[in-house]
Amino acid sequence: MADTLTITDNRTGRTYELPITHGTVRAGDLRKIKTGDDDFGLISYDPALVNTALCTSRITYIDGARGILRYRGYPIEQLAEDSTYLEVSYLLLNGELPPRAQLAEYTRAIDAHRAAPDGFEQLLDGFAKHPYPMGVLTASVAALSTYHPESRQIFDEAARREAMYTLIGVVPTLAAYAERHRSGRALVPPDPSLSFPGNFLAMLFGEPGKPYNPQPVLERALDLLFVLHADHEQNCSTFAMRAVGSSHADPFNSAAAAVAALSGPLHGGANEAVLQMLAEIGSISHIPEFITRVKAGDGRLMGFGHRVYKSYDPRAKIIKRTADEVFEITGKNPLLEIALELERIALQDDYFVSRRLYPNVDFYSGLIYQAMRIPTDMFPVLFAIPRMSGWLAQWEEMLLDPETKIARPRQVYLGPDRRDYVPPLHHDRAGKERPEAERAIVHGLHAVRPGADGQRVGRDSRREHAAHPDRRPLRHEAVPAVPLRRSQRRRFEHRDAARTRTRAATPQVAVHDRARLLRRRRSAR
Ligand code: ACO
Repeated sequence: MADTLTITDNRTGRTYELPITHGTVRAGDLRKIKTGDDDFGLISYDPALVNTALCTSRITYIDGARGILRYRGYPIEQLAEDSTYLEVSYLLLNGELPPRAQLAEYTRAIDAHRAAPDGFEQLLDGFAKHPYPMGVLTASVAALSTYHPESRQIFDEAARREAMYTLIGVVPTLAAYAERHRSGRALVPPDPSLSFPGNFLAMLFGEPGKPYNPQPVLERALDLLFVLHADHEQNCSTFAMRAVGSSHADPFNSAAAAVAALSGPLHGGANEAVLQMLAEIGSISHIPEFITRVKAGDGRLMGFGHRVYKSYDPRAKIIKRTADEVFEITGKNPLLEIALELERIALQDDYFVSRRLYPNVDFYSGLIYQAMRIPTDMFPVLFAIPRMSGWLAQWEEMLLDPETKIARPRQVYLGPDRRDYVPPLHHDRAGKERPEAERAIVHGLHAVRPGADGQRVGRDSRREHAAHPDRRPLRHEAVPAVPLRRSQRRRFEHRDAARTRTRAATPQVAVHDRARLLRRRRSAR
């Protein structure tokens, strides 16, 4: 059986055979399908790219129907059980798990980049008083490009890797600084003696100059959350990273775009939204009423549903187990019972079952972060820290792919056909076009047309212009009012009086403009 697709264009009766590779047809092949020489060719229409493969990739595999997630072929369950975030980070970037010596070297390389650049604190001073931390992180990551101009050499492997290690190493520091700065607490610099997650906890909760001993269960839980969030193939933020990077922007600016994309409540902001939702529900007895509202289209059950997973998100299962370990140390999060009951009810409800809506990674992660005393609006920031590895692996793969071109999708234009510009004042406030006479009034064109017998006819619209609510100020009115000196005022009064006299003495005045008036008088002589 040939791996091809035969298409008959019923507009022309012509038949085309397109190759099928890896279960896809090339959208570019559709361009051959034309009605004539001046036809651009067929384009596939795919809003939100729900059924379009943007690239080939060897990094992450997801089977949404069966709830499978693998990094470089390794099942997420095994990595969650036995690996660490930095090992996974190396795996994502390099394709293979590191031998022990290489992992040590990689860890040293990342640790060497933990410190924020000199002068970075002044940048924080420039933000608003209590800023949203994702906004600060987006700006901070973009600002790094100004400290690392060599990162623009994206095809120089050494420069590229240096920038990648900088981003992975420094992003926890930027994240912790964003939180400490807005809460008015002194910044705690990175501690090289601590692990990657332990150091982050120290920068968040420690005191400057005092040793901080991270609680081992919390340190491990955070590391596990980092493993689970490290990559997730072509999601919204990874797409942003690839799309911006395809213009050959430096990795800092590309990563800033990815952080920005992650901040939305439909993506990385979802775990923050889950906690807000659980707090709003408030008690188990309010769940049925909440579910009824969601089913009626009033809001969404946050932390449920996924573009790719149409069964239980494997990461949510792992997080649910970890939550119990964390709560043993921190005490139970009171919202957990609401979450568990919400999940139980939703998974029995036909609305969610028929749409294959299951808990995603964000349904339980926020509960753990909250139990660890991390502020709710910092949750997306905690997502960005590990996802940096995934973004960079995807970015480098994109750059080195010979098929890569600058991202430039097409559109289906449905707007108006060519039309001529109409100044805004040609329409009234309801958008209706004004008749020509009214337009003249609005614009202050004080036209007075001569009648056949030499008498003035038409209207002197000056008064109407002055009274019109949408009047366009006359040129001299647009000048800011400054008090005139007495002599100036006299001069203007004298000029106005002279004009009035001239007009009264000249019945056939067509326009109020002085130059044209003089021309007219000369030709009348
Ligand atoms: N609650 C209620 N209904 C939902 C939900 C939800 N969480 N998610 C989807 N639906 C419904 C939609 O209303 C739609 O119903 P309809 O067919 O009657 O119109 C149907 O399910 C399909 O929904 P889409 O929006 O088309 O699904 P899509 O794949 O575009 O959306 C998304 C995926 C954005 C994740 C969505 O499920 C959602 O908004 N979930 C809540 C937010 C969330 O948890 N995001 C985190 C995702 S994981 C991550 O980014 C790390």
